[in-house]
Amino acid sequence: MPNQPEKLFQIGINPDVKFGKNFRVSNASNLYGCELGDDCFVGPFVEIQKGVKIGNNVRIQSHSFLCELVTIGDDCFIGHGVMFTNDTFSDLGRPAYTEREQWKPTNIGKRVTIGSNATILPVNICDDVIIGAGSVVTKNITEPGIYMGVPARYHKPLPPNYGK
Ligand SMILES: CC(C)(COP(=O)(O)OP(=O)(O)OC[C@H]1O[C@@H](n2cnc3c(N)ncnc32)[C@H](O)[C@@H]1OP(=O)(O)O)[C@@H](O)C(=O)NCCC(=O)NCCS
Repeated sequence: MPNQPEKLFQIGINPDVKFGKNFRVSNASNLYGCELGDDCFVGPFVEIQKGVKIGNNVRIQSHSFLCELVTIGDDCFIGHGVMFTNDTFSDLGRPAYTEREQWKPTNIGKRVTIGSNATILPVNICDDVIIGAGSVVTKNITEPGIYMGVPARYHKPLPPNYGK
């Protein structure tokens, strides 16, 4: 039995990552080809893939995964273990693997707060939204408010001082 893998993929912060001022990141994260604005924080065990664009003042808590074709606006909070997706398996009935034309984008507006362990299918979420912990967001969200559940549905309005 060989004691070395056939190929060892290194993780880390690739030199091609573009980041703004006051960028704080854990060394146990895996970032490549992505772009982050000013005042962002990325916790440990986060992966951010190439082409992902993140605005200013965004906090990404540990264990989250941001795949290609994801865009995040300013002043967002991405909780622990939030999973973004770009391949729904819907059209092929299997993972698209490298057939990138099958992948779909996700756009998150400004001041979006996503609770821990939420899964975000490829959707658009407007500004000023809270997503409850463990939710699965399957459809676009076009009105501000609090959404939760599987699938995520409107729960109630935002607190009056949200985002202030
Ligand atoms: C979605 C959320 C904002 C709702 O808060 P809230 O309005 O104060 O909700 P309540 O605690 O009053 O619960 C209201 C009802 O929704 C249910 N509920 C609350 N959060 C839920 C969630 N994430 N998913 C499904 N149901 C949920 C409650 O069980 C309760 O049900 P009931 O009326 O049958 O008893 C909050 O529960 C949540 O999930 N926050 C995210 C926390 C998080 O992940 N933080 C990360 C940093 S540590």
